[in-house]
Amino acid sequence: MENSHLVHLSSPTSSIAFDTSNNKLVIRYWGREIKTFSEGLLASTAKSIANSSWDEPLESGVLREHSRGFLGHPSISGHRNGKNWSTQFTLSSIDHDKQSLTAHFADSSAHLKLELKYSLNSFGVLSIAAVLTNAGTEPYNLEEFTYWLPLPDRATDVMDFTGRWSHERHPQRHTIQNGLSTREIREGRTGHDYTVAQLAMSSDTNFQNGEVWALSVAWSGNSSHHVEKLAIGDVSIGAGELLLPGEIIIAPGASHSVPSVIANYSREGLDGLSHNYYRWLRSRPIHPTNIRPRPITLNVWEAVYFDHDLQKIKALADRAADVGIERMVLDDGWFNLRRHDRAGLGDWFVDKEVWPDGLGPIIKYINDKGMEFGLWFEGEMVNPDSDLYRAHPEWILHEAGRTPPLWRNQLVLDLTHPGAYEHVLNQVDAILVEYNIAYIKWDHNRVLVDAGHLGQAAVHNQTAAIYRLFAEIKRRHPKLEIESCASGGGRIDLGVINYVDRFWTSDNNDALERQTIQRWTGLVIPPELLGSHIGPHRGHQTKRTTSINFRAINAFFGHAGIEWNITEAAQEDLAVLKSWAKLYKEKRQLLHSGKVVRVDHADPAAFIYGVVAQDQSEAIFAYMQHAMSRSTFPAMAIFPGLDENKLYKVTILNDVGAPERMQVMDPPWVQAKGGILLSGAELASVGLRPPILSPENGLLISIKEL
Ligand code: DGJ
Repeated sequence: MENSHLVHLSSPTSSIAFDTSNNKLVIRYWGREIKTFSEGLLASTAKSIANSSWDEPLESGVLREHSRGFLGHPSISGHRNGKNWSTQFTLSSIDHDKQSLTAHFADSSAHLKLELKYSLNSFGVLSIAAVLTNAGTEPYNLEEFTYWLPLPDRATDVMDFTGRWSHERHPQRHTIQNGLSTREIREGRTGHDYTVAQLAMSSDTNFQNGEVWALSVAWSGNSSHHVEKLAIGDVSIGAGELLLPGEIIIAPGASHSVPSVIANYSREGLDGLSHNYYRWLRSRPIHPTNIRPRPITLNVWEAVYFDHDLQKIKALADRAADVGIERMVLDDGWFNLRRHDRAGLGDWFVDKEVWPDGLGPIIKYINDKGMEFGLWFEGEMVNPDSDLYRAHPEWILHEAGRTPPLWRNQLVLDLTHPGAYEHVLNQVDAILVEYNIAYIKWDHNRVLVDAGHLGQAAVHNQTAAIYRLFAEIKRRHPKLEIESCASGGGRIDLGVINYVDRFWTSDNNDALERQTIQRWTGLVIPPELLGSHIGPHRGHQTKRTTSINFRAINAFFGHAGIEWNITEAAQEDLAVLKSWAKLYKEKRQLLHSGKVVRVDHADPAAFIYGVVAQDQSEAIFAYMQHAMSRSTFPAMAIFPGLDENKLYKVTILNDVGAPERMQVMDPPWVQAKGGILLSGAELASVGLRPPILSPENGLLISIKEL
């Protein structure tokens, strides 16, 4: 029953219940779906009066205000020149429909108004957005706005992701202790160390089982993620934009839209969480697979680096077309004086030395071979050695007349400056108007420090400016796809996802390293958005050598491509690339619409993961041997997620090349011509005995309903 003070939002997988009594908004519950909430919930969750405590039970509500006795990390911090530093908002009204609740608050002493909107979609994903209005006569300096959600006591663990260049999104899990556990990003872009989502979970949660509560800032600038356990026992998860001093000063009468957060809940483990994210993201009309299948891509970066040459790129195009590539991307190095990474950023016109006739001839050559053309930009950056910088040294983000330290020989262009913004927009637009370009890879290769505009911190406005720029470019070129790249996977988040169609997951194309990076990036982002390329035998980053079979399987579960000078590839490797590309085209519909399953495998030396069709009629799994298993016979490979009552044919897909083995003879199921039959229940609970593979080799397994 819903009474006047208890309102809730529910999806088939989760619910959130609010108590609106006493002019406050208190979240009484967030977790699995509860169809009806009883009035008793208000009493059942209320606390006793403790010794050495407030004389009446105080409940500060979602805004966590000091003035209402809340002693943990607050939601809002700010002031007016030192005044109005403590708020006490009163809930003035609520709008509530099936999917959303909007709460309006006012603080008549601090002269602030706040609108807080919770929207729960049918996939169980909750977004929360706030708009803060300055109702006073003096500017209000907002120092922090963090959104918080309560966690139940059984959420004992926190997991988040850490990373650095070429080593993005590695998980770290620990027990929640008393106090505040915080992950901050202060590099002015999402960053390699951005957690993408911070998770709280029960101690036994794994991929397949257990409860998990997740929160992410949908924003590409600075951010904070927190889990807090108070001495009184309350546990909560919080996230929001991290603001630099004086960054947001709200003028009298003006409003500030706070970057929103995305929350998600699953009681079917981490895979259940991904399932919710994917279903939500895939439901968006702009989601690229709702427009067309993902084209297999060849990016020339690691094949040629800055050494651009028409004949060389043509030779690559010949091979690419032969292999079955559908889109070819010319990376860094095509624009004015960009012969190395010390010059050129900011001057987005074609370099006459290496492309004397412009890009027309190479684009025509690529198009004539049936492939689309893509081009690289890094529009937020400028090299001091550029015409742009020489003309406008003032168009960089900076503070107090200082020039920020260089990083990859570059500075950050101040896109909050209308002149700089127009310059980038017009130059990029001119290229897109002149040439037939299907896709741009948009890079961001340095961090923002001292990022000021006219003496005020400008990371927030810079982030808003790049969103505006992407939106405007797309408005002018509606079919264009944009890839978000930042030295690899440094700008992957649920904010920029509204403007881009692909993420460059990592600069590390070493398939073994990619296994972990892709697994955990894929927790939130579906595979069709994650660029995943077959690199050369010897990885350019790690210098590790991996088999073509392992590299091909690794790239298969993403937006697949190649980043390798395939004019130098051996004939047998080219044959694998061809059959791999053909298979990918056949299977991408399944790969980019199905449910991702990551197996809680008993053997730490191998990863098992796959995609199961939503109707459970089919699946493709990878068994990836990372290292030698401890036992002679590796642990049985299980394949959950299929219909337990159906019979499936299990075969190995050799289109990705045969794996190397360390054994005399394969197990019978591998030898069986035409595969073997197993039920969904057997696949989930008995599984298959893997052959003894050499490390860094894998099997691609097809499971098809009879
Ligand atoms: C970093 C990117 O991640 C690479 O893929 C490549 O585009 C280089 N920048 C080019 O400078």
